[in-house]
Amino acid sequence: MADIKEAADALSVTSEGLPTIVWYPGHMAKAKRLISDNLKLVDVVIELVDARIPVASANPMLKELIGRKPRLIVLNKMDLASPAITKAWVSYYRSQDIAAVAVDAAQGRGIKELVKLTAKLAAGKTNRLENKGAKARAPRAMVLGIPNVGKSSLINRLAGKVKAKAENRPGVTRAKQWIHIEGGFDLLDMPGILWPKFDDPMVGLHLSYTGAISDEAIDTEPVVLRLIGWLRENFSRDLINRYKLELGGGESLPEDNVELLELIGRKRGHLEKGGIVNHDKTKKLLLKEFRAGLIGKYTLDLPPDKPEVQETEAENNGTGSKEDSRD
Ligand code: G4P
Repeated sequence: MADIKEAADALSVTSEGLPTIVWYPGHMAKAKRLISDNLKLVDVVIELVDARIPVASANPMLKELIGRKPRLIVLNKMDLASPAITKAWVSYYRSQDIAAVAVDAAQGRGIKELVKLTAKLAAGKTNRLENKGAKARAPRAMVLGIPNVGKSSLINRLAGKVKAKAENRPGVTRAKQWIHIEGGFDLLDMPGILWPKFDDPMVGLHLSYTGAISDEAIDTEPVVLRLIGWLRENFSRDLINRYKLELGGGESLPEDNVELLELIGRKRGHLEKGGIVNHDKTKKLLLKEFRAGLIGKYTLDLPPDKPEVQETEAENNGTGSKEDSRD
């Protein structure tokens, strides 16, 4: 699996034990150059973000790299994200005059619309070229995104066969090939690898929750405890249902995240001699089930214009939300 760690220069932790990444300027400049070189070849950029974390999985620098070239933001893994918040994100991007579409590259949902939108965005450029007397050619596009966001899955889905194999270093390229996509454009068979931007510790946290930063690379304890806290604050009903945490009348979930982790571990029988809960197994279980959408379908990054949408979600599924405490 592609991993941000392999794309990074160094993985570090903040004073609170949360993962963060150190990028060396030389490495960054090289990656930027490689991406820029590929960008010159295409009419449209398909920027893939993770629908659960559209902020943490994007790189704001891309806007500057792309310049005036048309861009389509693709919210991938929509099957794992909150449908209402994904809709709100698409509306938000459109309100900013940015084309956007939600897809599930694994199952193929949304792909037809993606193809249609890409062809439409590219048409402006190719029509202009033809008007200037250039020979007609199919519009060209490329896929860009951070490791593990689903670039290869999307290219394979579009190409209809196993084709793309992303290298894990930002911007790395090999010999270029084009795949003709039925419905209107040529796609560079190799995705461009972006890096996430780590100014905000929340970014590292959200990338860890969703598995973009692999668990082997970090200490998962502070990450899982934060995640448990977030779930309890926002979606306690989902936790109770998933782990059958029957509580006595009027009782609520433990306020302490370690206690809650242990309650879940006990319920799942992750016990050692003497009835001590095996933290490691319980943490792995929680991360696995969270990432697979088994506890619920959540979006961790909210659109700037719709901070209340998380609460509506929680109310809809009966959790009864508290304020949005996303850390
Ligand atoms: P990358 O090229 O950007 O690094 O990402 P890649 O396509 O390798 O996808 C990373 C993981 O995300 C893969 O899972 C892939 O199956 C999964 N994935 C991609 N798109 C979607 C989607 O829309 N929905 C869901 N639920 N998953 C998606 P993996 O566990 O690494 O591998 P595998 O399970 O496919 O073997």
